[in-house]
Amino acid sequence: MKTIVIASQKGGAGKTTLAGHLAVAAEQAGAGPVALLDTDPQGSLAAWWNERTAETPAFAHADLSGLASQLAELEAAGVQLCIIDTPPAVTVTIRQVLAVADLVLIPTRPSPHDLRAVGSTVQLVEAGGKRMVFVINGAAHRARITTEAAIALSQHGAVAPTVVYQRTDFASSMIDGRTVQELYANGRSAGEISALWQYVSTQLNKHASA
Ligand SMILES: Nc1ncnc2c1ncn2[C@@H]1O[C@H](COP(=O)(O)OP(=O)(O)O)[C@@H](O)[C@H]1O
Ligand SMILES: [Mg+2]
Repeated sequence: MKTIVIASQKGGAGKTTLAGHLAVAAEQAGAGPVALLDTDPQGSLAAWWNERTAETPAFAHADLSGLASQLAELEAAGVQLCIIDTPPAVTVTIRQVLAVADLVLIPTRPSPHDLRAVGSTVQLVEAGGKRMVFVINGAAHRARITTEAAIALSQHGAVAPTVVYQRTDFASSMIDGRTVQELYANGRSAGEISALWQYVSTQLNKHASA
């Protein structure tokens, strides 16, 4: 079993959105069974999952005091991929969760505030000795700051080659427990998520052989 942790100390960066979307993308690509773990007391991912009618991915509330054994149980139950959503700003929780990551995804909006805030997340990830990939999320079309963000982030580490654009379907699809792939399978948003999953899955496997 591989574990992806989605972290950024900035709220609203897209952690929960990407956790749900990538979990569904991984299932669709045959990389499942996937289990989602929510470590955010706000429980946005749990609320989304509770609205779902599809049987996959699986979901569990994270047991922060026994995370390693919870993951071992999931692995024993046949789970191939675990995706963990984290809260913003709660450094202790994030540090604890990062410890179990094979790969850390850091969603970042291409805005000056988000870019300035990314340093504290990077420090946490580097202190834990984990590999990370930035995902630019919520980009506006034809905005120069997207390119500038990619260049700035690349000073810290790998930037996913797929940018996720700002589109209402990312928010609206999650209202009733779905994802863009399930609402508009042939839409641009679905294409971005599937391309992002392919990249992330390559990064995960690279890590395994490294
Ligand atoms: N690419 C996107 N396009 C449109 N809305 C988005 C996008 N990514 C996230 N959102 C919306 O932005 C808000 C914050 O996203 P969320 O995933 O909850 O961030 P976080 O978990 O990092 O706090 C939510 O309302 C979500 O629906
Ligand atoms: Mg969230």
